[in-house]
Amino acid sequence: MPDDRIIAGVRQGEDAWDRALRPQRLADYIGQEKVKERLAVFAQAAVARQDALDHVLLYGPPGLGKTTLAHIIANELGVGIRFTSGPAIERPGDLAAILTNLEDRQVLFIDEIHRLNRTVEEVMYPAMEDFALDLVLGKGPAARSLRLDLPRFTLVGATTRAGLLTSPLRDRFGVILHLDFYPPEELEQIVERSARVLGVTLEPGVAREVARRSRGTPRVANRLLKRLRDYAEVRADGVLTRRVVEEGLALLEVDPLGLDAVDRRVLEALATRYGGGPVGLETLAAAVGEEPTTLEDVVEPYLLQVGLLERTPRGRQLTAAGFQAVGREPRWTQGRFGWTGKEGED
Ligand code: ADE
Repeated sequence: MPDDRIIAGVRQGEDAWDRALRPQRLADYIGQEKVKERLAVFAQAAVARQDALDHVLLYGPPGLGKTTLAHIIANELGVGIRFTSGPAIERPGDLAAILTNLEDRQVLFIDEIHRLNRTVEEVMYPAMEDFALDLVLGKGPAARSLRLDLPRFTLVGATTRAGLLTSPLRDRFGVILHLDFYPPEELEQIVERSARVLGVTLEPGVAREVARRSRGTPRVANRLLKRLRDYAEVRADGVLTRRVVEEGLALLEVDPLGLDAVDRRVLEALATRYGGGPVGLETLAAAVGEEPTTLEDVVEPYLLQVGLLERTPRGRQLTAAGFQAVGREPRWTQGRFGWTGKEGED
């Protein structure tokens, strides 16, 4: 069995159900077909050569399965996996301790790899390229450098945006894979699979509805499913009927478009306080009480994907569909005396 011990304090809030919902092999993984096909080929080739798989960079919005794929890569290679994250590796010594404890061909998963600090990153370069650790002993004129051999390993790095990585680090990954939001048909299959794992009965049409409201994101779909299961158990007989789902989603403040409370706060702030924009990221983040990075990495990608928001050189701007999503008229149909295009057409 691969060892999935967490070594540097990431994802400890994850419960047993989250782990159970996670597919273990590529064959069980739904969607991301191109990513799967490439990984299948590269992993099979590495296994046949009895070599370590080249380093893999996974990038894409949160919740799309980067961690799940790291587990799967290790399983497909038949090796163990060690977990850590960029901010958890504070000093070069921390990284040296992790690297020297790896076993041959093991996977090292570094989440949020764009947050590695510079001195740690520099230790990473020879480790990735030559499986070597360059140590400097002593200080000043007496300093000597010592090269220590490391086991061959596969670094799997995850980041929300590849552009956040420095280019020397990005260039050292032999496999770079982008994860995209899931279309509703694939999310529907994920919801059905998760319901089977959780032992939840779904009425026909319910999986599609949960999928439609999950922001293209399996983590959101699985979270909604678990909360809807709670609602069905407490307020009904445990079966997820259409009515239970409607009521449960209303309680969770997930609207018919699948937007959550934060999404709507952003759209509403843009529509009402800034006339639809454009407005700078920092200003918008302050207006809705979120960190700019949260807005940029978590909230915006989906709003951009579904065409409610646009990024322009002068800032964020609502589209006509964005105005509609929060029940407002687009700014450009509003005249000085409250005239709107719609009234004009009557
Ligand atoms: N659970 C979360 N993501 C999944 C995926 N892509 N396929 C199957 N189950 C999942």
